[in-house]
Amino acid sequence: MTVKIAVLPGDGIGPEIVGEAVKVLNAVAGKYSHEFEYEYGVVGAAAIDKVGEPYPDETHELCLNSDVILFGAIGDPRFDNNPKAKVRPEQGLLKMRKALGLFANIRPLVMFDALAERSPLKTERVKGVDFVCVRELTGGIYFGRPQGRTEDGTVAYDSCVYSREEIERILRLAFDMAMSRRKHLTVVDKANVLATSRLWREIAKEIAPEYPDVEVEYMFVDNAAMQLIQWPAAFDVMVTENMFGDILTDEASVISGSLGLLPSASVGKENALFEPIHGSYPQAAGKGIANPMATILSAAMLLEYLGMKEEGAAVRVAVAKAIEEGVVTEDLAEGGKSYSTKEVGDFIAKSI
Ligand code: IPM
Ligand code: MN
Repeated sequence: MTVKIAVLPGDGIGPEIVGEAVKVLNAVAGKYSHEFEYEYGVVGAAAIDKVGEPYPDETHELCLNSDVILFGAIGDPRFDNNPKAKVRPEQGLLKMRKALGLFANIRPLVMFDALAERSPLKTERVKGVDFVCVRELTGGIYFGRPQGRTEDGTVAYDSCVYSREEIERILRLAFDMAMSRRKHLTVVDKANVLATSRLWREIAKEIAPEYPDVEVEYMFVDNAAMQLIQWPAAFDVMVTENMFGDILTDEASVISGSLGLLPSASVGKENALFEPIHGSYPQAAGKGIANPMATILSAAMLLEYLGMKEEGAAVRVAVAKAIEEGVVTEDLAEGGKSYSTKEVGDFIAKSI
């Protein structure tokens, strides 16, 4: 199969971790006789520096003309520490999600047995954890208008807005996913306070009868934050709005032992982008210490999205082998021997 892959390394550790994922994709191409064609684009601070905006038109064109997109990370402390900055790298990511119609962010969390001891939670609680968070990605408070400040600058506001159409398509995707898994769906909202959440819950209750095999549970987000840490193995598919999903998935990531392990897929009707859930980790940029596994596992999701099930599985097996054999970066080494970003990528590519 010939696949056109747009590669957007982004900022900070982005180029390093994406480099390792490409290395792994090349190993897959070699083993399974595929042809992967990569074309690179800029996004984030890298794009601001180059052309003055965080998601340039050329990058958008590149994404539209590719089969799939592999993305690293966005963010730069030069902008984080300057609340007055007119353009911000993150705007590029939001614009890209919106412009490509990537309304569903799929964030799976699977516990690697070899890491159960590393989790900050008790081993018996994290054994067998295997759930997916389906996060709505192009609506809610991230995009709602009006947003801004009053003229005198003393009051600021954001709006959380959701349409029936936006809610329905993400809920259906989550119900379908539950059907393909353990048939348990947790709808996370704040329906006791927010109007948007009440609309979510209303629509979920309308759709539920179409999926009689799916057991649906409704949970307030504050309670979900607690249950997730207390009983992570109780979750199968969780679906929620944009910001709740952002927060809950960072929380969930610590369960696995490292934020550097969690991949994600952002999908829409026509486009699909694959990225680690972690940020650009600027303190580590260029040091060769970043964990490339989240990006490599995102590449596995990319392959599976293209229907390459065996290839995706091969990547997962290779990552698990690296973890079992202790070929890991310092975030997972627990003070023991650690390997560089490149060495971990080499090991995984070689195993494939
Ligand atoms: C994520 C990130 C982004 C988000 C930021 C960088 C805008 O935290 O992908 O989870 O909040 O969606
Ligand atoms: Mn986030």
